[in-house]
Amino acid sequence: MDALVSLCKRRGFIFPSSDIYGGLNGFFDYGPLGVEMKNNIKQAWWRDFVQRRDDMVGLDSSIIHHPTTWKASGHVDNFTDPLVDCKVSKQRYRADQLFWAAINVETDEPMSLALTGLESHPIGAGKFGTVIGYVSALESDRTNEELQEKAELLKRKKGIRGTLRPLVITDFTYASERDIPLIPSPATGEPGSLTPPRSFNMMFQTYIGALRDDSAVAYLRPETAQGIFINFKNVLDTGRVKVPFGIAQTGKAFRNEINPRNFTFRSREFEQMEIEYFIAPDADWQKCHRDWIDSAVTWLESIGVPRTDLSEYAHPKEKLSHYSKGTVDLMFKFPFGVQELWGFAARGDFDLTQHQQFSGKSMEYFDEVAKKKYVPHVIEPSVGVDRIFLAALCAAYTEDEAPDEKGKLEKRTVLRLSPRLAPVKVAVLPLVKNKPELVAMAEQLHARLQRKYVVFYDQSGAIGRRYRRQDEIGTPWCVTVDFDSLTNGTFTLRERDSMKQERIDEKALFALLDERLY
Ligand code: GAP
Repeated sequence: MDALVSLCKRRGFIFPSSDIYGGLNGFFDYGPLGVEMKNNIKQAWWRDFVQRRDDMVGLDSSIIHHPTTWKASGHVDNFTDPLVDCKVSKQRYRADQLFWAAINVETDEPMSLALTGLESHPIGAGKFGTVIGYVSALESDRTNEELQEKAELLKRKKGIRGTLRPLVITDFTYASERDIPLIPSPATGEPGSLTPPRSFNMMFQTYIGALRDDSAVAYLRPETAQGIFINFKNVLDTGRVKVPFGIAQTGKAFRNEINPRNFTFRSREFEQMEIEYFIAPDADWQKCHRDWIDSAVTWLESIGVPRTDLSEYAHPKEKLSHYSKGTVDLMFKFPFGVQELWGFAARGDFDLTQHQQFSGKSMEYFDEVAKKKYVPHVIEPSVGVDRIFLAALCAAYTEDEAPDEKGKLEKRTVLRLSPRLAPVKVAVLPLVKNKPELVAMAEQLHARLQRKYVVFYDQSGAIGRRYRRQDEIGTPWCVTVDFDSLTNGTFTLRERDSMKQERIDEKALFALLDERLY
């Protein structure tokens, strides 16, 4: 991750927001290359899931909705995370991301209370068990190892003999009133400063108009989905759609995350690409749900996120909201662990029914085939643009070796991005900059390519170094205008991943780009 974060800043993909003022936790700015790549992700998604399907239409709703929207959706009452404060360090944690365990040691004799602070108790077979302290760690891909190491260290430090019993690791939402004062804060390593978890609403609040009272309260949307539900009737009334059909929307969402982390993975301002796919109440929702997951996997593969880095996590039935029939998360193997990339929820008719109740407007659909009215049910594939961006970068980042001008192998950083996502599609490089005809030819080619594609022109430095600069930002092709170009009108086409070079003329170059980029 460190190498990737540094590349992102160095080459203008992603900057910390408000960098000159020391940054703002959980907010990011996309630089010149980042904005191109982000737009490419959104365009590829829109083209493949909206424009290339007959059963999908798009929407772009406002970010701020009538506040009743969030009452109806349940966000005002339930969009909360359990928050834990450390009173000493003033750090805040999400209780479900803070893990702890009691350190239990097995001995032949009871241990002295002075040493442990807690009573030994018989555990059978003439043995005694004693809790000698507690350990805590934040969620990461090595939480369990970290807790184990901390437990062994504490046992050694206290000079306690006996066998460490296997740790029973749980998150802080399961800590009892008795445990809480004994669990050390991850910030200080000392117990006694963590508060019991309390609910914290993650919506960003603002005010509409000049008044600053309760009647003016509004929220920055925490998801784009509700904008779709509140426009369901409007879209239906345009007459273009028939169940089953879907409405898609991309746009910013805002969540006051307690613990933004892992670069852009969990941010406070991010972009979502969401679909609400409406089906009849008696339709085979499981098949529809499965089809959406499968299409997402195929699509991810088409933009360079390999199937082998993906897995599925089905939410356990007992953790689902009462209205949900099933939720599956598509997980990606990020460098910081396997984490959610894309969620697929079968939400029944909950949202439309809630809006029907709160607005007093009917959300029913008349099915002309079945000759009946119903409130449609919904399958919701929902993904963050920033997460796709990060997954695509992680999958693409490679370090290998390439020969320099003298044939000596040197380290090469290469982003093996799919051509559709690559911020720059092709680089035009005149072999030398002191041959006016050659430079003129390269400039003209650059201008013609630029009318259709994002192209980079670079004439400074050795050609090998210029290739390397393009490899690092994921440019799939470099076209070198050389001396042969002046005589036969062909160029050297160099492919990023294989580094293979071949001659190509302008017509074939345009044909190649058209085929690979759309
Ligand atoms: N409408 C359903 C919904 O919003 P979610 O699981 O909360 O569901 C959907 O979010 C997707 O949005 C996630 O799978 C993830 O890709 C992205 N996402 C959610 N919270 C995010 C955050 N704080 N930062 C970046 N992306 C986030």
